[in-house]
Amino acid sequence: MKKLTTVILAAGHGRRMRSSLPKVLHNVSGMSMVEHVIRVAQSVNSENIICVVGHGKEQVIEQLKGAPVKFVEQNVQLGTGHAVMMADDYIMEGDILILFGDVPLLSKATLNDFVSMHQNGDNDATVLSTKVDDPKGYGRIVRGSRGFERIVEHKDATPEELEIKEINSGIMIVKAPILKTLLKQLENDNEQNEYYLTDIFELILKQQGKIGVMVAEDDYEVMGINDRYNLSLADEYMQQSIKKKWMLEGVTMISPSSIYIEIDVQIGKDTVIYPNSILQGNTIIGDSCMIGPSADIKNSKISEGVSVKHSTLVDSKVDDNASIGPYAYLRPKSDIGKHVKIGDFVEVKNSRIGDFSKVSHLTYVGDGEIGTHVNVGCGVVFVNYDGTKKHLTQIEDHAFIGCNSNLVAPVKIGKGAYVAAGSTITDDVPEGALAIARERQVIKTNWSSKYQKKV
Ligand code: UD1
Ligand code: CA
Repeated sequence: MKKLTTVILAAGHGRRMRSSLPKVLHNVSGMSMVEHVIRVAQSVNSENIICVVGHGKEQVIEQLKGAPVKFVEQNVQLGTGHAVMMADDYIMEGDILILFGDVPLLSKATLNDFVSMHQNGDNDATVLSTKVDDPKGYGRIVRGSRGFERIVEHKDATPEELEIKEINSGIMIVKAPILKTLLKQLENDNEQNEYYLTDIFELILKQQGKIGVMVAEDDYEVMGINDRYNLSLADEYMQQSIKKKWMLEGVTMISPSSIYIEIDVQIGKDTVIYPNSILQGNTIIGDSCMIGPSADIKNSKISEGVSVKHSTLVDSKVDDNASIGPYAYLRPKSDIGKHVKIGDFVEVKNSRIGDFSKVSHLTYVGDGEIGTHVNVGCGVVFVNYDGTKKHLTQIEDHAFIGCNSNLVAPVKIGKGAYVAAGSTITDDVPEGALAIARERQVIKTNWSSKYQKKV
């Protein structure tokens, strides 16, 4: 492949989004639009990826820190041609691929075909078009008797040109020296007083240059996102493709239209996802799990054979054959061992729970280290916060915590020790001991009849 430099245009305002967030930072299935575009650009081995930023540039640069891109600024948005001029220092040799930050669905396969077509045909410039039923707003590809003639913007088009259904995706690839020269010749005498990048095609034809047009079969891939409705369509499209991919890999989905899976999630085979589940971020789910109904899992690692029902998991880890929920909440840094049971209305935060332990109902486990085969009864509270600092509760293997106990941290319950129900434990309990920390029960015989006589 020839040397390739990619320029991503991402400086525009995107007014039609009606948003304080720059348009290219809006999310499609778990990643901002511009990050989708960067990812596809990486797949064609661009030597440099230049991102033209302007509107909301601080936010865009912040979001993209760590991404393999260089930034150039376009401080006033005078059109797509003007935006490319800002990257002039990088327009030196080889080919320049122009991508739009608001065209997030372009596939690696299509882009790869597009670059190959341009380079194999030794074209001076190649544009990616597609045919749509409703071309409103797009630039039209005007073809005459000798083939491609020019691109006309919607706002500049004649009534006949408005009938054309073949539209400009905005994606193009141009030989660097030609682009460099022609950018200087662009003018802004059009309806929008903008420097249109698309005008370079007419200039190339004037010089008898060679232009290629590749018609993308799937018009969705080149859809430009201008408003929230377009955004929802793009998201739906990407959801379809993400879910289809996992189904073909051996994942069962019940009522898939109610399931939402972000782009970087991974799922093992024979896992079943039940309705209304949402899997986000870098979540990894192993084989043969039962996820949902209504599982909300973010940035978590779930091993094999795990069941998660009606529960929320964030930044957590769940090992093989554990069972979570219904109605559990695993907050960040919950580390759940093998065969552990976390039952209903249990909240866990920053805690490790050892293999075969059970926390079955209505319990708060915060900043805890729980060993193996521990039983934490109903309604236990890890009293981890003194108003200033968080403290650790340790429970060693085979210990038993009776219902409705408070474990006031820092505190340690020794191996095999028992805590009587209703205790408020403030001192360490030694290995094998029983701790009872509550008022002794008092019985007053025949009390009620005397009481009732009095009233
Ligand atoms: C552009 C094309 C149109 C095409 C359509 C496809 C031109 C003149 N028009 O129109 O033919 O059908 O995209 O979606 O190229 N941008 C900048 N700086 C600017 C202006 C735009 O960085 O000064 C960026 C935007 O952030 C966006 C992209 O370029 O990512 C396209 O800009 P937009 O204003 O949306 O162009 P369209 O009018 O949609
Ligand atoms: Ca657009």
